[in-house]
Amino acid sequence: MVYVSPAYEKIWGRSCRDLYQAPDEWLAAVHPEDRERVAQAINGRQAATACSQDYRIVRPDATQRWIRERSFPIRDGAGKVVRIVGISEDITDRRRLEREILEISDREQARIGQDLHDSLCQKLVSLAFDNDSLEQKLAARAVPELNIARQMGSLLDDAITEARTLSRGLFPVKLETDGLEVALQELASNTTSRSRLECRLECPHPVAVRDNAVATHLYRIAQEAVNNAVKHGRAGSIVIQLHAAGERVELKVIDDGVGIDFPLKSSGGIGLHTMEYRARTIGGVLSIGKGPEKGTVVSCLLLQDAQ
Ligand SMILES: Nc1ncnc2c1ncn2[C@@H]1O[C@H](COP(=O)(O)OP(=O)(O)OP(=O)(O)O)[C@@H](O)[C@H]1O
Ligand SMILES: [Mg+2]
Repeated sequence: MVYVSPAYEKIWGRSCRDLYQAPDEWLAAVHPEDRERVAQAINGRQAATACSQDYRIVRPDATQRWIRERSFPIRDGAGKVVRIVGISEDITDRRRLEREILEISDREQARIGQDLHDSLCQKLVSLAFDNDSLEQKLAARAVPELNIARQMGSLLDDAITEARTLSRGLFPVKLETDGLEVALQELASNTTSRSRLECRLECPHPVAVRDNAVATHLYRIAQEAVNNAVKHGRAGSIVIQLHAAGERVELKVIDDGVGIDFPLKSSGGIGLHTMEYRARTIGGVLSIGKGPEKGTVVSCLLLQDAQ
């Protein structure tokens, strides 16, 4: 340890002197749930490459902070690695803000979804009723305008279906009333009827996700992955899998589309970032990879606390 910034004391709540004396001691301050992952990353790290990871630390006063650590090599004139520089940044406030923004956006979506359902959908339905009775009256008088009323009726039916699908996407009622499995089933059937592809849910055994916030995040991850598979993958079929074994819950969205290009080019989109953020928020791990033959697999793995 050649140099430790005095900011270490402020962020970690520990003294620089202790760190000079026992450079490995800092790992003991890493949150027990993150320690193994951090230790593995450090052991497996190639000195010659830059890397970055986020983890929590527990300060001596028992408060927790989120740290983003980046490290990179310093080379001598001959290109030999002579030092490794590590920068630890306190990202606790940024993380809190990120979570709050996500919560606000979820709440707003739910509100718009409910408004659509309670206001627009109801108005469209009453218009369709009025149109029905108009159709009957025109039919009784056998006037040619009947066809216009019929066309209006079928357009209104389409508009009602569209508004309902939209409102359910924004506010997944089933999630609250019937749980994740039923909500995912509805997501699959809505996707099938909306797009020209087959989307199905595979959930061989009932999966109980006890925490409603966890269920909501998993649902939103599935929703984003399915939307991406339709929009970017141009998939012909999408399978949503939900499996549980003991405390392990895994959600997978598998598509047979064009596949994702790695390394990812920045598209300006926020979907992948948000999925990863949601997974981290519920203590899970998100991975995105290529499908067995083609297409993309998005997986979110998490351990539920035992009841
Ligand atoms: N299933 C997929 N198949 C092929 N490419 C994908 C798939 N999912 C994501 N991508 C690629 O990754 C990029 C980033 O996806 P991301 O969801 O972050 O953004 P977006 O969908 O473009 O925008 P947003 O999600 O904000 O509406 C996409 O532009 C696309 O190129
Ligand atoms: Mg997207």
